Amino acid sequence: MNEWTNVAAASEIGPGEYRVVDIDEVAIAVFNLDGEYFAIEDVCTHDFGTLTGGCVEDGRIMCPRHGARFDIRTGEALTPPAYEPVATFPVRIHEDMVQVRDNRDD
Ligand code: FES
Repeated sequence: MNEWTNVAAASEIGPGEYRVVDIDEVAIAVFNLDGEYFAIEDVCTHDFGTLTGGCVEDGRIMCPRHGARFDIRTGEALTPPAYEPVATFPVRIHEDMVQVRDNRDD
């Protein structure tokens, strides 16, 4: 089982903000949405563009390359040209640190 990785202190990721961490060459973006934290892979399923840098609104992120939108909470692809969901990851708060884990090999 993969270990939890520190992302940042909870106070460092304000509502609407995010941080990106690299876990074994997988870029994972951790978002604070109204005080809850959610993590998605920072790679668009349309053409592998980086998602962060795109507009975040109402719990959705828009890929800056061709405009596909994804639900940050579920990873669901909401609009073309992406149709496949982006990977999501578990997030926890441990001793005031936001931590994420790549659980795909569990
Ligand atoms: S790479 Fe994201 S919409 Fe094309």
